[in-house]
Amino acid sequence: MAKHERWASRIGLVLAMAGNAVGLGNFLRFPAQAAQNGGGAFMIPYLVSLLVMGIPLMWIEWTMGRYGGSLGHHSTPGIFQSMGKSRAWKYLGVLGLLTCLGIASYYLYIESWCLSYAIYSLLGGFGADEPASFFGRITGQSDNQLFAFSIPGLVMFAICIGINIFILSRGVSGGIEVVAKVAMPLLLLFGVVLAVRGLMSDPISDEAVKESPWVGLNYIWSVPDFTQIANPAVWLAAAGQIFFTLSIGMGSIHCYASYLRKKDDVALTGATTAWTNQMCEVVIGSALLLPIAVSYLGLQGVKDSVAGGSGFGLAFFTLPTLFNNWGPQFAPLAGFLWFGLLFLAAITSSLAMGQPVMAFLEDEFKLSRVKASWALMGMLLFLAVPVALIHEQGVFSDFDFWVGTFALVVFALMEVILFAWAFGMDKGWEELTRGAELKVPRAFFYIMKYVTPTFIIVILLAAIFKPSVGWDGFFGSIGSGQGVPAWEWDADSVIGKILHKDLVTPEDASPEVVTYYENLRTVRTYDRIGLLAIFAFFSILVAIAWRRKGKGGTPS
Ligand code: TRP
Ligand code: TRP
Repeated sequence: MAKHERWASRIGLVLAMAGNAVGLGNFLRFPAQAAQNGGGAFMIPYLVSLLVMGIPLMWIEWTMGRYGGSLGHHSTPGIFQSMGKSRAWKYLGVLGLLTCLGIASYYLYIESWCLSYAIYSLLGGFGADEPASFFGRITGQSDNQLFAFSIPGLVMFAICIGINIFILSRGVSGGIEVVAKVAMPLLLLFGVVLAVRGLMSDPISDEAVKESPWVGLNYIWSVPDFTQIANPAVWLAAAGQIFFTLSIGMGSIHCYASYLRKKDDVALTGATTAWTNQMCEVVIGSALLLPIAVSYLGLQGVKDSVAGGSGFGLAFFTLPTLFNNWGPQFAPLAGFLWFGLLFLAAITSSLAMGQPVMAFLEDEFKLSRVKASWALMGMLLFLAVPVALIHEQGVFSDFDFWVGTFALVVFALMEVILFAWAFGMDKGWEELTRGAELKVPRAFFYIMKYVTPTFIIVILLAAIFKPSVGWDGFFGSIGSGQGVPAWEWDADSVIGKILHKDLVTPEDASPEVVTYYENLRTVRTYDRIGLLAIFAFFSILVAIAWRRKGKGGTPS
C-alpha cells in the first residue's frame, strides 16, 4: 500500500525536490521574463520576492507537507484539513489538485515538443529555415486557424503522457526518485557544456558573431536599473516568476515533503532546494538562451524578439538555427543538448504535478498505485486533449493564465493564512524548527505572519484590478496632477481576462478572422467551465471520502 511510501535517501529527496522546481520555468520563462521586463530592472523585485515570499512559502509548504504526511495525507485537501479546524479547508485544498492537473495538461505538451526537437536534432540537426516549419509540423499551428494539431505531434504528446504515467505508477522512491537521480546530474552537465560553448563565442575571431555573449549575460546582471523599481508591472512579473519557478502555491511541494518522517529536517533541506533552483535559474538559466541569442542577433534583436511576449520563439525557432554557427558536427549535438536539457527539466517537473493527484486517490480512496495512475491519465486527457487540438491562443494560454499564474497566488494566500493564523504561527514555528539542521532566523517568524500575506494580497489586488494604462501609468498620471485617467481594464488583468479583453477581434478583420476570434472566445468560455467542472469533481470526491471516514472509516 502506498501509505508507507518514503524517499529512499536524502540525496534522492533533494534531487527530486530540485527536479520538481527546476523546469521550463528556469530555462525559458525566466530569461523571457527578465528580457521583457528590462533585464537588470527585473532582478531587484525578483530577489525581494524571493526573500519575503519565495523562501517563506517554501518553508511553509515543506512544514505543512511533513505535518500532513505524518497523519497519512499526501495531498492538499487532507493536509489543509489536518491543520485547520473549519471543515471548509479540505475544499480549499482542492485547488492544489486542480492547479497541478491544469498546468500538467499544457506543460506536458511543451515537454513533448522538447522531446520531438531533441530526437530530430540528434538525427541531423536543423537547417536554416527548418525549426519554424518543424514547429508547425508537430503542432499543426497556423495563423487564424482554430483547430491546430498534427498526427505526429499528438503521437509524441501521447508518448510523453505515457512515460510520465508509467514512471508515476512505479511510485515515489521507485519511480520519481530514480528518474531524478539520473536526470538532474545529466541536466546540469548539458547546461554547463552549452553555457561554456555559448560564452566562448567571440565577435573578433568569428565573423558570424555580432556581439559578445557576455552582453546578454550583463543585460541581466549589470547595474540594476533603479528607475524601474517603482514600476508595479515589473513587480508583478517578478513575483509571478518566483511562484512558477519554485513550484510554490500549487500543492506539489507539500506532496513531496509529505513523504518525510516526522523528525526529518525541513529547514535546511527546504532552503537547499530553493537555492538549487535559484542557482539553476540565475546562473545556468541566464547563461544559455539570452547570451547565445545575443551573440548572433545582437541585444536589440533579442529584445525585439521577446517583446511580442514569448520565449518560445527564441527557444524553438531561433536557437536551433543559431547552433548551425557552431559547425556541422557540433550543431546536431548542441540541439540535442539544448532540447534534451529542456526535456529533462520538464519531465522531473511534470512528475511532480501528477503525484499529488495520485496521492489523493491512494490516500482517500485506497486505490492502488496502478489504478491511481490510470485515473490520473483519464483526468489529464480531459484537459490535455483540448490543449492539443486548439490553437495555442485558445485553451493553452487560457490555462497558463488561470491555473499557471492566477490560481497559484490565491492558493498561496490561503495556505499562508492557514499556517500563520489558523494553525497559528507559534505552533507553525515549532513544526518548522523541529529537527531543523539550520537555524531559521527569527525574523522569518514575523515575515511569515505579516509580510508574506500582505505582499501576496497586494499582488493579488494589483493583478485583479490592473488598468490598461498600467499601475505606473495610473499613479504617474495622478502624481503629475493630470488626475485619474479614464478607467479601462488591462487585457492581462483578471477582470480583463474574464471580459476577453485579450481576444478582441482586430479592426478591419476579414470574415474568417472575425469567426476565428468568436470561436476562440467561445472555446475559452468552455475551457473555464471545464476547469470549474474538475474543481467540482474533486470537491465531490472530497465530500464522499470524508463522509466515509466519518462513518467509522479511517480517522482523518
Ligand atoms: N517549477 C516548474 C518550472 O520551473 C514548473 C511548475 C509549475 C511545477 N507548476 C508546477 C512543477 C507544479 C511541479 C508542480 O518549470
Ligand atoms: N509563453 C511564455 C513566454 O515565453 C512563457 C511561459 C508561460 C512558459 N508558461 C510557461 C514557459 C510554461 C515555460 C513553461 O513568455
